[in-house]
Amino acid sequence: MTEIVKLAEEAERAMTAASSLEALEEARLSVLGKKGWLSAALKELGALNAEERKARAQQLNEVKDRLAAVLESRKTALNDAAIEARLKAERLDMTLPLNESAEAQGRIHPVSQVIDEITEIFAAMGFSIAEGPDIEDDFHNFTALNMPPEHPARQMQDTFYLPKRGADGEQIVLRTHTSPVQIRTMRGGPPPHRIVVPGRTYRSDYDMTHTPMFHQVEGLVIDRTTHMGHLKGVLTEFCKAFFETENVKMRFRPSYFPFTEPSAEVDINCSREGGVLRVGEGDDWLEILGSGMVHPRVLQHCGLDPNEWQGFAFGMGIDRIAMLKYGIPDLRAFFDADLRWLKHYGFVPLDIPTLGQGVAR
Ligand code: DAH
Repeated sequence: MTEIVKLAEEAERAMTAASSLEALEEARLSVLGKKGWLSAALKELGALNAEERKARAQQLNEVKDRLAAVLESRKTALNDAAIEARLKAERLDMTLPLNESAEAQGRIHPVSQVIDEITEIFAAMGFSIAEGPDIEDDFHNFTALNMPPEHPARQMQDTFYLPKRGADGEQIVLRTHTSPVQIRTMRGGPPPHRIVVPGRTYRSDYDMTHTPMFHQVEGLVIDRTTHMGHLKGVLTEFCKAFFETENVKMRFRPSYFPFTEPSAEVDINCSREGGVLRVGEGDDWLEILGSGMVHPRVLQHCGLDPNEWQGFAFGMGIDRIAMLKYGIPDLRAFFDADLRWLKHYGFVPLDIPTLGQGVAR
């Protein structure tokens, strides 16, 4: 009797002290294993008479239950500790410092930078950004913009035609300008409209200043009383903000576009002294965009009554003004994905010029 109590106390102590699951298993085996003392004691029950067996069996079962509980709780504790230790050992150190040298950082492409600058300036004047598909149909790219089939202006656009036609037999093209988004905007919801549309455009052309894919930004304002003075005011504000000088001179030169009447091209002053182009200096002129009052026929194509609604539009080459502002000589390099070029002409994030860092709060 006392011997069992002693053994039980010893076993409990060993189990509680077990410092690993292996040590605990060892302690369990010495009690309940094939050669364990409790197993042996249980086996011996058969040799006892009924009365003795009952008392002995009760005592042994109590010991067994007690030790099973101790085993279980020790096992849980050891398991928890093992998980805890593993979590600690496998922890990822997120505080590892980044390699912060400028070399290791990516660069913002000049096109992205200039799109940010342009949209920021127009956003501050109340414009929102609109977008349209690169793959366009003939109606949106030409017809609705007052360029019916056979219109000579179509020939000037070096259009990429897709071999497949649209569901209604419509010719499908890669958009040659961002102007189709004017149509999509006006047909997509009621005026007033005040949007800028940065995006990719496509023409079959390739030299120092032309690539088959390039970027434009379109502007459109439609309201009841919008007039050419607003066009001049908005574009003047834009040029000052974009070229970051009050001194840039502008010239509105009469021009022709099928989708505007009257139409004007905008030039800014520059100097070309010594073969170097400087914007905002000198008496030379440099064309930067096309613009005009939206043609009544364009409004009609969009279901608007020209006697009720009018407005202005403009279109500008993004790559071109990026080249101008940041002195980049060859447009083709923009799209060569040469990291040496990007490192030279790109912008370090968080260290970009005055504009394009988000609107000041
Ligand atoms: N879409 C013209 C082009 O690609 C540019 C343009 C000129 C857009 C005058 C306009 C505009 O909205 O009013 O050559």
